[in-house]
Amino acid sequence: MSSRRVVAIVPAAGSGERLGAGRPKALVPVAGEPMVVRAVDGLLSSGAVDDVVVVAPASHVDAMASVLPARARVVPGGADRVASVALGLAAVDDADVVLVHDAARCLCPGAVAQAVVAAVRDGHGAVIPALPIADTVRRVDPGGRVVGPVDRTGLLAVQTPQGFRPDVLRRAHEAALGSSAAARATDDAGLVEAVGGEVVTVPGDPRAFKITTPLDLAMAEALLGTTAPLAGAVGDP
Ligand code: C5P
Repeated sequence: MSSRRVVAIVPAAGSGERLGAGRPKALVPVAGEPMVVRAVDGLLSSGAVDDVVVVAPASHVDAMASVLPARARVVPGGADRVASVALGLAAVDDADVVLVHDAARCLCPGAVAQAVVAAVRDGHGAVIPALPIADTVRRVDPGGRVVGPVDRTGLLAVQTPQGFRPDVLRRAHEAALGSSAAARATDDAGLVEAVGGEVVTVPGDPRAFKITTPLDLAMAEALLGTTAPLAGAVGDP
């Protein structure tokens, strides 16, 4: 029987061009601390995660290792997110639950990781945190013309950490190797779905939003910097 051990893979090998910081996005500081450090600390302090494998740009393995806690192993990543997660997965040897968590969702509360791990241990092979969509959604053609309404009922926005039984995640990644599903997939649950696997949801958290643009970064810093003052300021004269 395999041990009760949770290993989190943190894909952090993206270039972060949309953020325009001139360095890998995961190393961009959010209120003074690199995103990847915040993401790893969040996982470890949740109490739900035993070990972390960080997947870094090949050129920045040492740079990431030097800022991360010793419990985080750092391995070089690949050309896209799917390849990077596969390389992280290859470094996981002993686990009953594997989480995959984007470094860019670095303010995710620990309760989300706890809920995802609990659901995998309840017997689900693939678990994703998700939230209802607030905006109205439309499908458009390549010219930007609306081609039809989309019923928001039953649509959720998907976050990370996503949790998997290791055999389920490995099978999905093996099948994705060289397939078009890998090119399209923006998350790991998508690869599980592509091989017919069942994916269940647990409630996500708005603070698990992904930092992609300079505005996202400003919002993350505002959230970190103003939580306490805002609470005290309500109703102040
Ligand atoms: O670019 P985007 O924000 O969608 O990337 C999602 C996550 O995947 C980020 O944490 C990014 O660092 C990671 N990624 C990766 N390897 C790549 C591309 C993206 O680990 N080659």
